[in-house]
Amino acid sequence: MTIDRRGLLLGTSAAGLTIALPYRGDARSLTYGEAGALPMPPVATTLPPPLPVVDPSRIGFDTGWLFHLGDLPFAPPKDHEQTYLRAKAGNAPGAAALAFDDSDWQAVALPHDWVSFQPFVETANISQGYRPRGIGWYRRTFRLDPADRGRYLELQLDAIATNATIWVNGSTVAHNWSGYNSVYIDITPFARFGDEPNVIAIRVDADAMEGWWYEGAGLYRHAWLARRAPVSIVTDGVHCDPRRGDSGWHVPVTVTARSIEATDMPVVAHARLLDPAGAMVAEVRSQPVTVPTLDSAELALDLAVASPRLWSVDQPTLYTVEVTLERDGAAVDSRRVAVGFRMLRFDADKGLFVNDVPVKLKGVCLHQDHAGVGVAVPDALLQWRLSRLKDMGCNAIRCSHNAPATALLDLADRMGFLVMDENRNFNPAPDYMTQLEWLVRRDRNHPSVILWSVFNEEPMQGTPSGVEMVRRMAAAVHRLDGSRPVTAAMNGSFFEPVNVSTVVEVMGFNYYQRDYDRFHALNPAKPTTSSEDTSAFMTRGAYATDKAARVVTSMDTEAAPWGATHRETWKQIAARPFVAGGFVWTGFDYHGEPTPYDWPTIASFFGILDLCGFPKTAYDIHRAHWIDDRAVVSIAPHWTWPGREGQLIALLVMSNAERIELRLNGKPVGEAAVDRIMGNSFNVPYAPGTIEAIAWRGGRIVARAAHATTGRPVALRLTPARRVMAGDGEDVQPFSVDAIDAAGRHVPTANLPVRFAIEGGTIIGLGNGDPNSHESEKGDARSLFNGLAQVIVRAGAGRGPLTLRVTAAGLKPAQIRVDLLAGPIRPQVPPRATETRIERWRVSPLLATRPDAALAPGAGDNNSWAWVRSGVATPAEPAAGWRVYRAKVTPLRSVMQSGGTIRFASITGRATAFVDGVSVGSKTDVAAGPLVARMPPGAGERTVTLIVEAAAGAPAGITGGVGVARS
Ligand code: GAL
Repeated sequence: MTIDRRGLLLGTSAAGLTIALPYRGDARSLTYGEAGALPMPPVATTLPPPLPVVDPSRIGFDTGWLFHLGDLPFAPPKDHEQTYLRAKAGNAPGAAALAFDDSDWQAVALPHDWVSFQPFVETANISQGYRPRGIGWYRRTFRLDPADRGRYLELQLDAIATNATIWVNGSTVAHNWSGYNSVYIDITPFARFGDEPNVIAIRVDADAMEGWWYEGAGLYRHAWLARRAPVSIVTDGVHCDPRRGDSGWHVPVTVTARSIEATDMPVVAHARLLDPAGAMVAEVRSQPVTVPTLDSAELALDLAVASPRLWSVDQPTLYTVEVTLERDGAAVDSRRVAVGFRMLRFDADKGLFVNDVPVKLKGVCLHQDHAGVGVAVPDALLQWRLSRLKDMGCNAIRCSHNAPATALLDLADRMGFLVMDENRNFNPAPDYMTQLEWLVRRDRNHPSVILWSVFNEEPMQGTPSGVEMVRRMAAAVHRLDGSRPVTAAMNGSFFEPVNVSTVVEVMGFNYYQRDYDRFHALNPAKPTTSSEDTSAFMTRGAYATDKAARVVTSMDTEAAPWGATHRETWKQIAARPFVAGGFVWTGFDYHGEPTPYDWPTIASFFGILDLCGFPKTAYDIHRAHWIDDRAVVSIAPHWTWPGREGQLIALLVMSNAERIELRLNGKPVGEAAVDRIMGNSFNVPYAPGTIEAIAWRGGRIVARAAHATTGRPVALRLTPARRVMAGDGEDVQPFSVDAIDAAGRHVPTANLPVRFAIEGGTIIGLGNGDPNSHESEKGDARSLFNGLAQVIVRAGAGRGPLTLRVTAAGLKPAQIRVDLLAGPIRPQVPPRATETRIERWRVSPLLATRPDAALAPGAGDNNSWAWVRSGVATPAEPAAGWRVYRAKVTPLRSVMQSGGTIRFASITGRATAFVDGVSVGSKTDVAAGPLVARMPPGAGERTVTLIVEAAAGAPAGITGGVGVARS
């Protein structure tokens, strides 16, 4: 069978293909296989390249947020006026209001996960990791330059956990009901310019949950403000779809433009293809297209390039499509999209081909979660996590079970991972279809993305309803992307007469490895992959299961009943060419879903790496399975077993070489032909010293690994991931902390409390990979767990040293300095302090006699007094007279306590100001000018009244902004 749907070839072929595990490497021993070394990769000396700027029209909106934990319910309106006003645009009450006193809220920067600050509580939800979630509020005040007037303004929130209501300047602008999709909000109609502040308020309800894992809470990804020309490219509005044609490659490019202009507007799109060095290799200009007013239009272009360098996991070569939108011959907007030229083919017999080369998916499932920071994983930490996986030979990631951060896909493109991009909610109803469509639109340019998964383990997978749902969702995906197949991660029902495997292009097996062959026999034309497997348990650094202590051995002997050990799982996948590959549950441990133990255990044991990214034995197992281009060898466990002299120690040696030789203190104690899948087991009587595994191939030693018996810890050691950090206020890296013995060797058994001090940066989280630890993940204190702890540090802004120091009772402290390199700081919307403005006034009709300050419209009279804003004068008054302006204001708490001032930037006409009927200042000049009046101390809402005297034929009124502040 061959399906050729716009370049997607899904085929079968008669010949079987052996997916062997070839050895292509040469000798290269591993730094972290050395006796007594820290089990981590070498320290990098350079910064990773910055993530690309895709959309130059936007700047960061990550700083300057204020946060309040707990709900602030709106007081129900009582009188008619309040009720009437509450129903009006711009008049949201309480913490959603423009004029709300947030001056005592906590300053936070994004990404922010408030649950990561919470203690562990037995009564809290188990799946979410026994931490209170609750409701929280965010507010952000900012100014817009008058030059931004007329531009299209968009607020972008990359994700909010979980349900959110968003207000801008007192109007509800969005409700968002998924914790994983972005929210793009056109705030143009609500925006104010110059001195008038803009306020974003967000209520986040994290009692709502979408998953059965730790989901965190709050604004845990980035936020942005886009300021674009009135005719501009929509967000995610460039689709680049590289295809190989008969005579070389081409990139169909579709650009969606939108206009807020008053008249229809012709535009032209210009696209350039840049090679990895930035040289232009193709260029094209579209025909003019008219974008209707307040509508959008598509422009189609095609870039031709004969033989570009291809993208693959080993050589992830990226080109850039640069799109410019032109109006009247001038560029008004642009985007830069990274593209990769690669061909994908899922073959029902032979698995996946990338560029006609078979590629076995050596994948992991990932939640976005890390020790110390929860789901608020900074981009640099994502990068570090992916580098840990790459180092293991992993080539594929399943974003389980939701949309990933954009940065993860940018990094996957660049680092060479294949991604199964998974939708969260299985539901074809319009709200949910919108979430799926957003996912495809956002992610369809990434060469790393090879599969769309519409669901994970849905009970309706074997029902007619499930089939109808998948059909609709798959069709929606293919309307937006014709180049990748759709899959669904099924856990059973594959043999039901009606099941969704018939309506996906690639069958996804979660577990059920025993059914691979039967399914293939019954469905010989259906390409297949494992979408999830393994679910094995390990505690990092532990080598015996102790149920009472809630510890699982790391010798790869224990797995969930629905899963299998790492070795058993890969054995099944590796042996079957028709299974495109696998995705281990999981790459890293994660908070929540504590399995196999529950309270007081708070995190999972499934990871190949622990919560901090420290390797378990599974890491060495997968290195042996997955790395082909260099020799690896490892030994588990360590060799520090005081008191067990003479007893047999069970050893697991993993290697991808031919033969293994085991030596204890230089003497041979075992030898075997390598079993690359199951590893080689030895029982060696313990004697202190050095146990060493020597890997041979072709008569040569190609790799060695060793553990030395270590003495008691005498000193601490700090090891960064990198020697340098960007001094941009955003760069983050983890530091490993371990204890060393008198010979400077890593002590794998040390469990002791340590304390940190930092200069030049901030500690944003702490961890040690112990799923049973209830120590806080914030602050400056943590214990080593089986020899290791981690401190995650954010760099300050600017050049200089960052110095981290760690101390522990009775041990020599350690101090390390890394250099902060001066460099570009990502522009952010400048924050603005909380202030109280009086903007809306009721104004009386023109009165012939001077009124009393107590004059007010009658109850329920919404009409005889006009509603006006500060800054707007009356038209020329027909006669001399007086008008009363009335407004309600609740000053900041500090003003309530000590009093302050009411600053009228400009009043035209003579005027007297009153607070609660008491005169507080007057202006005797007729000409426009300021008035600074007193705001007497006092609690609660105040009534401010201004009586303005108008001359006949002249305008009068509040002709400037009004603010209430401390004197
Ligand atoms: C799977 C599920 C995952 C996780 C895992 C634990 O069934 O898809 O989300 O719960 O089990 O083994």
